Amino acid sequence: MPAPDTILEARDVSCHFDVSPPWLTRVVERRGRRILKAVDGVSFRVRRGTTFSIVGESGCGKSTLARLVVGLVQPTAGTIAFGTAPDAQGKPRTPRLQMIFQDPYASLNPRWTVEDIVAEPLHELKLRQGAAISARVGELLSLVGLARTDASRYPHEFSGGQRQRISIARALATEADLLVCDEPTSALDVSVQAQVLNLMRGLQAELALTYVFISHNLAVVRHMSDDLAVMYLGRFVETGPAEGVFEGARHPYSRLLLDTIPDIESPNRERAPLTGEVPNPINRPRGCAFAPRCSLATDLCRSERPELGGRGDVAVACHHAA
Ligand SMILES: Nc1ncnc2c1ncn2[C@@H]1O[C@H](COP(=O)(O)OP(=O)(O)OP(=O)(O)O)[C@@H](O)[C@H]1O
Ligand SMILES: [Mg+2]
Repeated sequence: MPAPDTILEARDVSCHFDVSPPWLTRVVERRGRRILKAVDGVSFRVRRGTTFSIVGESGCGKSTLARLVVGLVQPTAGTIAFGTAPDAQGKPRTPRLQMIFQDPYASLNPRWTVEDIVAEPLHELKLRQGAAISARVGELLSLVGLARTDASRYPHEFSGGQRQRISIARALATEADLLVCDEPTSALDVSVQAQVLNLMRGLQAELALTYVFISHNLAVVRHMSDDLAVMYLGRFVETGPAEGVFEGARHPYSRLLLDTIPDIESPNRERAPLTGEVPNPINRPRGCAFAPRCSLATDLCRSERPELGGRGDVAVACHHAA
């Protein structure tokens, strides 16, 4: 059982996909099985009422980790344990999970009105009956900054940011405690992103929500996160309190990601560009996965994988972390 303030604890979780060609092809071409290690031995703890962010480039395993958390895929190894969250009466219960996706349009049924969409969990979970359903839908819509009259409209009548508000209202209808948000604002314009992020922060304070927040953009998570993990090729390379990582990132990859954040004070300063591509997770390099792109890499890095560890609260997986 996780510690009392812990809502979710992942221990050494892996998710490997068998992407081998069919048996006959393997025999004819004399090839072995191909195992893609999308997530490979990841551990973290999410405290109730806080935001745990996971950041990394495309393909590093963020969505797979999100799907592991909500149970859409099963771990190949390791465990995910849940603590408790108080229900409406304050009694502890197993936390309710909901996922918020990047593309709200794909996750909203286009033939349903907003009322149908937001009311569905109320029917499904028997949370309200009769006239109380419409009243609750109205309440939820105003909670996310939409008008009560929006209930009779269809998803296509809304902008991207408004559609994301609808999916948040639907998630809140389930009385979710933990929202796993997979790039919830990446498809939106910058100004709209900020509005949705502010809404999410407000809701968190009001409803004591817990977020697992996924983004490829460190600037986006900067003002959202209590704890942060930087992910690279299926593993965490740096993790700890967000402030600690932002103020003193020690992994060369975290530093490069931080360097891509626009700097208002000195916009023209020299920056080391983040070059190269994430290696193929099937033919993972033997030592440190980041070594092929790292300016500090030595023979040690190319032969031996660094484990997560370190001083203070922030853990780093790097042989040369200063
Ligand atoms: N069902 C699956 N079968 C095989 N491979 C998969 C499957 N799901 C994901 N992968 C692979 O696992 C790796 C991680 O994918 P994932 O979608 O988790 O990355 P991501 O960090 O979310 O990337 P993005 O930022 O592009 O969304 C990728 O190489 C992907 O091709
Ligand atoms: Mg993804």
